[in-house]
Amino acid sequence: MAALLVGVCLLCMQLHMIICRPALSEKNYMSTFPFVNDEEIRKTSFKNVSHPNGTSQYLPHILIIGVRKGGTRALLEMLSLHSHISAAESEIHFFDLEDQYKRGLEWYLDQMPFSYPHQLTVEKTPAYFTSDVVPERVYNMNSTIRLLLILRDPIERVLSDYTQVFYNHKQKNKSYPAVEDLLLKNDELNTDYKAINRSLYHIFMENWLKYFPLKNIYIVDGDRLIKDPFPEMQKVERFLNLSPQINVSNFYFNKTKGFYCLRDSGRDRCLHESKGRAHPQIKPFLLGKLRDYFHEPNKKFFELVGQTFDWL
Ligand SMILES: *[C@@H]1O[C@H](CO)[C@@H](O)[C@H](O)[C@H]1NC(C)=O
Ligand SMILES: *[C@@H]1O[C@H](CO)[C@@H](O)[C@H](O)[C@H]1NC(C)=O
Ligand SMILES: *[C@@H]1O[C@H](CO)[C@@H](O)[C@H](O)[C@H]1NC(C)=O
Ligand SMILES: *[C@@H]1O[C@H](CO)[C@@H](O)[C@H](O)[C@H]1NC(C)=O
Ligand SMILES: *[C@@H]1O[C@H](CO)[C@@H](O)[C@H](O)[C@H]1NC(C)=O
Ligand SMILES: *[C@@H]1O[C@H](CO)[C@@H](O)[C@H](O)[C@H]1NC(C)=O
Ligand SMILES: *[C@@H]1O[C@H](CO)[C@@H](O)[C@H](O)[C@H]1NC(C)=O
Repeated sequence: MAALLVGVCLLCMQLHMIICRPALSEKNYMSTFPFVNDEEIRKTSFKNVSHPNGTSQYLPHILIIGVRKGGTRALLEMLSLHSHISAAESEIHFFDLEDQYKRGLEWYLDQMPFSYPHQLTVEKTPAYFTSDVVPERVYNMNSTIRLLLILRDPIERVLSDYTQVFYNHKQKNKSYPAVEDLLLKNDELNTDYKAINRSLYHIFMENWLKYFPLKNIYIVDGDRLIKDPFPEMQKVERFLNLSPQINVSNFYFNKTKGFYCLRDSGRDRCLHESKGRAHPQIKPFLLGKLRDYFHEPNKKFFELVGQTFDWL
């Protein structure tokens, strides 16, 4: 009798899971996903040929999905301090760029680092967070994948976004408008400016939450990670069920940079000089406009994730 009950419960759970899958029309499913069934995905999830040194390539178990200018590189580097983490070096843009996505999961697998079976593979592409198509595509690859999202004050993010594009132009000897010229249109906040839109976190979060439960998404406080990395990294370790390995002596403050650098078995490394640049000073009235604009979206985001942040 008990066995029968258990059986019925399991069946219910399975049905429930099927019903819970976001409704994808057949056509939609086929057009965005080149693989036919779960068996196919299971077989593709890692290369069943290990190298003589015992390593192989695995599809990511963890994705750092964004946000652009949130501190994704710092997070990836810090996470790599852990011996059970194996990180893809570059941003692969597999899920957000059509040309990459068309190449299929086997191609994606080929881009992954060689790692040992006890390691977790992580890939980061900050553009994933703000893309409309990415959540569904990631879900189709692995519906239980762990997602890391690092966010900072939306206004700081806007200014950092501007600063990066400004320097990219400068390097190519191209001119770029002053920050005020982009932020304002007819003396009002120019909400068409992409950098402002990308800071409307709740819009993008809603899309991710259609596919993934909140418990599988960990939000790293990017402002805190930069000021005091160790406690934040401890929380990330816990979320990922990693043994507590990263410790306070893995970080040292570099006064010249005004930033923490990393110490990994005696090897020191700092983030690239393009990180942590000074942001442009903006006039108080403009800052006021930005604060007003982001007030409601921030509140919506806090409600959505059941967590608050010290944003302006
Ligand atoms: C991997 O290959 C080995 C030996 O060829 C085989 O026994 C094993 O079942 C394969 N594993 C998977 C998951 O395909
Ligand atoms: C193991 O072999 C792979 C493939 O040749 C190589 O890329 C990787 O660096 C090697 N790893 C170690 C730890 O030797
Ligand atoms: C999906 O992600 C989870 C969480 O990281 C991991 O345990 C699982 O092995 C992954 N599945 C595949 C097929 O890679
Ligand atoms: C930009 O201008 C500087 C100074 O005029 C010059 O030395 C440099 O080669 C230029 N760089 C590019 C990418 O054109
Ligand atoms: C911001 O971008 C999103 C997604 O691209 C779009 O749906 C939304 O309408 C935009 N919001 C504003 C205020 O421009
Ligand atoms: C911190 O970790 C390093 C290895 O990354 C180890 O050598 C060191 O002993 C640890 N320090 C403490 C205080 O646990
Ligand atoms: C500190 O940062 C400066 C400036 O980026 C760099 O030149 C120096 O090597 C760093 N020192 C240490 C000990 O990391």
